[in-house]
Parts: sequence; C-alpha cells; structure tokens
Amino acid sequence: MKFVKLFEPFKIKDLEIRNRIVMPAMALNFSRDGEINDTTINFYFERAKGGVGLIIIGGAGVEPRGGGPTMFAIYDDKFIPGYTRFTENMHSQGAKTFVQLYHAGAYSGMPDMVSSSAVKSNLTRRVPKELTIDEIKVVQENHALAAERALKAGFDGVELLGSAGYLINQFLSPITNKRTDEYGGSLENRLRYPLELIQLVKERVGQKMIVGMRIAGDDFVPGSNTYKESAVFARHYANAGIDYINVTGGWHETRIPQIPMMVPQGAYAYLAENIKNAVNLPVFSSNRINSPLVAEQILRDQMADAVCMGRALIADAYLPLKAKQSKLWDIRKCVGCNQGCFDHIFTGKSVECMRNYMVSREGKIDLDNKTKHPIQVLIIGAGPGGLEAARIAKVLGHNVTILEKRLNLGGQTNLSWVPPGRHDIHEIMDYYSAQIEHLGIELHLGVEADLDRINKYQPDAVIFATGVKYNIPHIPGIDGSLGSEVYLAEKILEGECPIGKNVVVVGGSATGIETAIWAAEQGALNSEVAKFIAFYDLLPKEELFNRWLRGNRKVTIIDMLPKLGMSIGRTTRGFLIGQLMKLGINSVLNVQIKKFEGKTLIYEHENETKTLQNIDTFILATGVEPNDDLFNKVKETNPSYKTFKVGDCKRPRTMMEAIHEGFRTAYNLDK
Ligand SMILES: Cc1cc2nc3c(=O)[nH]c(=O)nc-3n(C[C@H](O)[C@H](O)[C@H](O)COP(=O)(O)O)c2cc1C
Ligand code: SF4
Repeated sequence: MKFVKLFEPFKIKDLEIRNRIVMPAMALNFSRDGEINDTTINFYFERAKGGVGLIIIGGAGVEPRGGGPTMFAIYDDKFIPGYTRFTENMHSQGAKTFVQLYHAGAYSGMPDMVSSSAVKSNLTRRVPKELTIDEIKVVQENHALAAERALKAGFDGVELLGSAGYLINQFLSPITNKRTDEYGGSLENRLRYPLELIQLVKERVGQKMIVGMRIAGDDFVPGSNTYKESAVFARHYANAGIDYINVTGGWHETRIPQIPMMVPQGAYAYLAENIKNAVNLPVFSSNRINSPLVAEQILRDQMADAVCMGRALIADAYLPLKAKQSKLWDIRKCVGCNQGCFDHIFTGKSVECMRNYMVSREGKIDLDNKTKHPIQVLIIGAGPGGLEAARIAKVLGHNVTILEKRLNLGGQTNLSWVPPGRHDIHEIMDYYSAQIEHLGIELHLGVEADLDRINKYQPDAVIFATGVKYNIPHIPGIDGSLGSEVYLAEKILEGECPIGKNVVVVGGSATGIETAIWAAEQGALNSEVAKFIAFYDLLPKEELFNRWLRGNRKVTIIDMLPKLGMSIGRTTRGFLIGQLMKLGINSVLNVQIKKFEGKTLIYEHENETKTLQNIDTFILATGVEPNDDLFNKVKETNPSYKTFKVGDCKRPRTMMEAIHEGFRTAYNLDK
C-alpha cells in the first residue's frame, strides 16, 4: 500500500504537523520525582528522530493529589526547565510537542484524592473526598497554571484529560457524579466542570498554543456515558473552543479489553469516526493502531485526521521513517502483549518493551558501535531469544549461524499465535525472518545440533536457545494407557489431532487458558460465513450471534492451583478470565488429579474423590521445564568456546525475558 495520507502534513489551527502520526501521552515511570530526566529525553529524542509528527508527553500531574507518585508532574515552576529541555530537543528533530495535563481524581490512589462526589472508585477501591465548589475552582486554576508553565517551556499545545475514567469523566458520569449543585444532575450540569476548564485554559494560553482534549469514545461502563453522550460532549467542547479531540476507548475499570492483543488492530477507530461526524475539528483515533498500514486505512476511510500510535512507537522508535522508506519488513511491531509497558506501569516499574530492549536504555546502548573483534557465533535454536541474540550479534559485526531442528522459525512461539486473539505473535516471527534475510545470517532449518556438528563450525561462542521440554506429571493413565484420549496442547494447536465434543484441559496456565479458549471456539461460524448468513438473513440474529461467537465444544479447565493464569500480566489476565466466562468454560481448581481412565478423570478436592465423565479429549498444558540437555553435554567436554544459555532453556519465563536475554548476551559477547 502506498502511504497517501499518513505522511500528509496537517494543521491544528495554525500549527502544522509534519505527518499524521501522534505519539499519545504515556506514563513511563522513568522518574520518581515527576521531573523530566535524561532517560525521558533520550527515549523521546529517538522517537522524534524516527519521524513522529507530534509527541504528547504526560500525563503530567497538575496537582500532587491528582497525579501518581511516578507520573510526570507540572504542578510547580520547578518542572519548567526539564520540559524546556524536552521541547527544544524534540523541536530540533522536527516533532511538535504537547503536554497532557493530568488529574486522575479518584483514580489517583493518593491519600488526599478528590472527585466530583465521594463515590468509591472501582479502580482504587477507595472513597475520594468530594470537591466543594471553591475547591473545583482551585483544581481548574491549577490546570490553567500548568498550561502557562507548558507555554513557558515551549510546548506547542496542551491536552486536557477527559478519558479513561479520570477526573473529567468523574464529573461527566452519572455513576460517579452524585452532586446536587450546579455541577451534578443534568447532562448540562455534569458538563459544567470540563466546559469551564476549557474556557479558563483557553483564556490563559489559547491565543498562543493549542488546547485539545482527550476523550473516552465510550466509557464502556454500565450506567455511564456511551458513544452517544460522547458525541454530545464533543459538540459542547467544540463550541467552547477546543482545538482538537483525541478519541480513545473506555475507562480503566471497564471489562471490555481496551489495549491487549485480543483487541483487533484499529478496532476503536469507529469511536473516532463517531466524533468526527459530530464536530468540525481535527480528530485523532487511538488504541491498537500498531501498523502504518492500519493507520493509513483509518485515514483513507476518513475515520480520523490523525492516528495515535503509542506502543507502536515504544516498540519501534523509527516506525515512521521505516514506513516512509517502504521498509515495512524492518518495523518491529507492537504486538499488544503489555509485558513491558502497561504491566510495568501497574507494578510501579519503568516502562520497557518485550520487543525492544533499547527502551529506557536509549543513549546507553549503541548498536552503531561495531565490534573490533568479530567472532564466530553459533546459535542453537530459533525461538525469540535465540533469534534476538542472532540479530544483535550480526548487527554488531559478528559472524552468525543458526541451527534449528524444526523446519520453521519460532520454537514455542509457533503455538502461541494459534489461539484466538493471539495472532499478532506471528508478527514476531515475520520480523525475525526478514531480519535474517536482510542481515545475511546463515540459517539451517531442520538441522538438529549435536556435539560433532557444533565442533564442525569451530565457533568462538555458542548460544543455546533450546527452549523447553514438556513436564508431564506421573499420573496413572496420563499416557493414554488406560484408554483415555490424551494429547499435549502443542500437538492439538499444531492441528495434529482432532478434538471431541467434551474436552478437559489439564493445567490453568496461560497455555492452558488459551488452549481452552481455542477449543471452545472450534466449530464456530467464521466471520465470512457469518456475514453471508447475516446478509441473506438465513438465521435469526440471536442464533447467528451465538453460532458465530461460540463453538460447539464443552470445555473444562482443571488445575491443582486455586487460581487460573497466575503468571499472566495483570492487564491481560482479567480479560482472559472474562473470555472463559463468556465462552462458558468451566474451571475445576485446587484439585489433585488421581487417574485418567477411559472417558473419566478422577480427582480429589478437599479430601473428596470426584470425577469428570464422558470426556472425549484430554489436553495437557501441564507446564514445561528447561531443555538444556545439549548444553550440559557440551559443558562436560570442557569446550574451547564460550557457552551461554538464553531464554527458556535457562529457566522458562516470559517472551520478554527471553528476547532481552538474547539481546544482552549478544551485546556483551566481546565485552
Ligand atoms: C505504559 C502506558 C502508559 C499510559 N499512560 C497514559 C496517560 O498517562 N494518559 C493517557 O491519556 N493515556 C495513557 N496511556 C494510553 C495510551 O496513550 C494509548 O491510548 C494506549 O496505549 C493505546 O494505544 P496504543 O495501542 O497505540 O498503545 C498509556 C498507555 C501505556 C501503554
Ligand atoms: S511490551 Fe508488548 S505491548 Fe508493550 S510496547 Fe512492547 S510489544 Fe507493545
């Protein structure tokens, strides 16, 4: 696809932005005192250099009680020098800069947090103090003061935060705003706080800089505002003089997934289009726009005037330039895993990226600094850890050969993208496949490494990335010897064996859950068939929906642990559990499995023996252990070359840990 729209400059009032790619506000947790430090500048400098049109930094707390302890802050003049350094650096690379003025209200979790009403927050589980009318004026004034600081620091604009369930939403929503004065009750009254805020900020800085608003396209919270009210709010904001509207999805507390991998790319562009139809202002679209192709299509379809590409630019700072130069193969796409970014935010850690080890280390690692001592590096295993090691070693100038016993790249990853909502994982392998080709890495597929073969290559260093082997517990009948149909999840997902109507998945880890979801959707109508049936009205709507959304298998997960998916990141786990419930997948937890016998599973729960009966297929997702046999064999021979273990063959962990370990190992080869 040719990029006709993506690189077309556009204007917000008189401000021209070089293209339509926006990096939206993202808390990065890079500093602990609200200050802009070198890590932040270096991180954004790379993105500005990489060609992004507009960077919105933040959210920056306009009051300590409205921000978080690790958020950026703009509630004091002392922050101005840091932001000035930021804007100067970004402007030097041609990017425009806005700062998001952040007040989380009852979402801040701060001890003295405030809101429209003293209603317990579903996110922080605490009751905020209700703002008096005088205090509302103070909060609004603090936004105006923050905007003035932004102007002094050289920003091109400020963005008010009316999305994700923060303070503005808490005024707008009837579920959080229970006031009986002029700031509560009717829609007009609930709109009073944001409209006054817009007017005040416009009065103070509006002549000299852009004042925009980020809004929730739909709160996705029962009883709260929907896309319909959102359009009404947008019209009011436009009348109050707002300069652009940045449309995102729902509140943090929603049960509808907003950004994990299971959200289809560009899924929420319809919310931006809804606003675009309501106002005559530049409108941005947000959430899961992770590829320039998806972005271009949204712009071509006139659903938005610009696209926010948040995590896409975390994963690859140079995405805009690469797209412009038609190097799509070189783009390291965000896959929506949240492992390094959103999960880190919720655990108080600095943002990293599963795919991009450089994140938060910009300026500290230099891949242009090639090795002065190139060596022969042999990599055994082409999973993500091994492939990242190969890529970095080659980029640094070493000679690299990969041996992989399978006929394709990816190792375990080949299975992870099969379950529904996991397709993006495939992008990882597409990327490495292209890197191998373009960097000229020697790759041998279908070649099993052994001592002799390794020695033939006369390597200086061997990196073992041999992955895992399956951990099959010793339970009578688990090998099928008592007549049960028992298969490894791997074999099932590879399509090697059919599954019956009544399925039990043994093991409630990520693999178990994803395999259960996959099994429950078997037999469902595919989207093309569903569309055909809908078009010709062949089934009643409700039946069509049921047969499209759910398959025809009965699925149960059984596990010895008391909870499912304990190792899955916080920002994804809840949605996966929600999917299980929606698909009617039962779980039997806290049990000890005793025997697989024919179609029966015998287990013990709280000292009682129980059974699951008439089971056609048992799927084992009982965990893995390091596959380091070859490494150990090699070590016994006291080899002359250096040896390293990378990824799961050292210890089964997340894909992020494997990729990062691959990077670090290769980067330090000659150090
Ligand atoms: C680590 C992280 C921090 C975020 N912090 C903010 C924030 O402070 N303000 C905000 O409006 N959105 C915030 N967001 C939401 C992003 O701006 C963006 O809307 C979201 O990541 C979805 O877009 P994407 O799929 O392009 O990443 C954050 C997202 C992430 C991943
Ligand atoms: S950690 Fe995952 S979701 Fe976050 S930016 Fe990287 S690839 Fe995207």
